[in-house]
Amino acid sequence: MKSKVIRDRFLKFFKDKNHSIIQSSNLIPVDDPTVLLTTAGVQQIMPFFSGLKEPPSKRLVSCQKCFRTTDIDNVGLTPKHLTFFEMLGNFSVGDYFKKKAIYWAWEFLTEELKIDSNKLWVTVFEGDEEISADDEAIAMWKEVGVSPDKIYKFGKADNFWGPPGEKGPCGPCSEIHFDRGEQYGCQKDKCGPNCEQCDRFIEVWNLVFTQYNFNGKKYDLLPQKNIDTGMGLERLIAIMQNVESVFDTDLYNEIIKEIERLSNKKFGISSDLDRSFRITADHLKGATFLISDGVFPSNEGRGYVLRRIIRRAITNGKSLGIYDEFITSVSDVVINTMKTIYPELKKNREYILDILETEEKKFSNTLKQGIGILEDNIKHLKKEKKSVIPGEVAFKLYDTYGFPIDLTKDIAKKHNLNIDLKAFSTYLEQQKQRARSVRGFLIETKKL
Ligand code: SER
Repeated sequence: MKSKVIRDRFLKFFKDKNHSIIQSSNLIPVDDPTVLLTTAGVQQIMPFFSGLKEPPSKRLVSCQKCFRTTDIDNVGLTPKHLTFFEMLGNFSVGDYFKKKAIYWAWEFLTEELKIDSNKLWVTVFEGDEEISADDEAIAMWKEVGVSPDKIYKFGKADNFWGPPGEKGPCGPCSEIHFDRGEQYGCQKDKCGPNCEQCDRFIEVWNLVFTQYNFNGKKYDLLPQKNIDTGMGLERLIAIMQNVESVFDTDLYNEIIKEIERLSNKKFGISSDLDRSFRITADHLKGATFLISDGVFPSNEGRGYVLRRIIRRAITNGKSLGIYDEFITSVSDVVINTMKTIYPELKKNREYILDILETEEKKFSNTLKQGIGILEDNIKHLKKEKKSVIPGEVAFKLYDTYGFPIDLTKDIAKKHNLNIDLKAFSTYLEQQKQRARSVRGFLIETKKL
């Protein structure tokens, strides 16, 4: 089943249950300055939950463009992590609640998509001193047919969602995990959903029972109970297409093929190279969407996130042996594979490619100088039989040559060296202080 069919079937399933389809919002959140980027479908729904805005309908469904900076370092290391992804979600604004959300999620996966129900496990909130355990959800999962030994309980870190910023709607949640089979497991007794040792279980769908508002200190009940669900489209497709990872789905096939062509290397042969393939594919897809949605590379905030992923994509391309400038070719494939779903990519094509080209040129020059400096330092350290790159060196590369710290980390790792990160942070903090006092000075001067 192709990705387009799966996306459409989700939207139609909920449309047939009287949900209005809403368009994905921009990756730059509209009404929430506390959040850098859109990380979930519910973000544009929040004002409806809080009662600040009237929803177009009490039942909504969407496929939302999301970007999670928290996963940058995980990309490449696991079969499931992405920075940019699409989130399928159905929402109820004070209409249906837990029972329908659970029954419909189960119906969609097991009847509509015919996923083997024996492979689905669930997790629920175990409760804490503020909010009670979700026994109701446990009973409902049993009603739909989940066997009790496949229902796991977790605390707030795993089974309580939101708010994405400092304040706002949130609630306990219940997740559906897909069991890829024992061959992917760590074989430990405790292996199950959320296992930290292996990737046997993949979290697919999160159902949030949004009934609280967190005001920064405590949880108050919202005037109405809401539903917010989020399912990673790429993970669902990987399950449906029965492939090893999200990068083996039809959403990535063309992108990976282009990187294979440029590098003259094959994907799926060596885990080291695969990591670079995955990072390059993920980051350039993310960069393409971020630029299209109005993010501009810079040294701060979301602009820095963009610059960081572009630079990581370039250095990973180098690890694959792509020495010429290449990122616009990959981005063009991203645009071509996604433009029917997101027509803004087609409209912004020239602009996206221009920004990428300029950024790559700029980085290539600094990269050459910076790598020279780092290699000299590494040679020196090795001669002296030292294994730690001084924080000062890492900071100079960051500050003067625009090296993201993780690039220095990547290179250090290849040489089996560590970085004095504590000293690096101290230099960084000092630099921030200096920047703050300069800003203060400018404001004062303006006043005069
Ligand atoms: N907001 C929840 C999440 O991001 C469900 O959509 O997981």
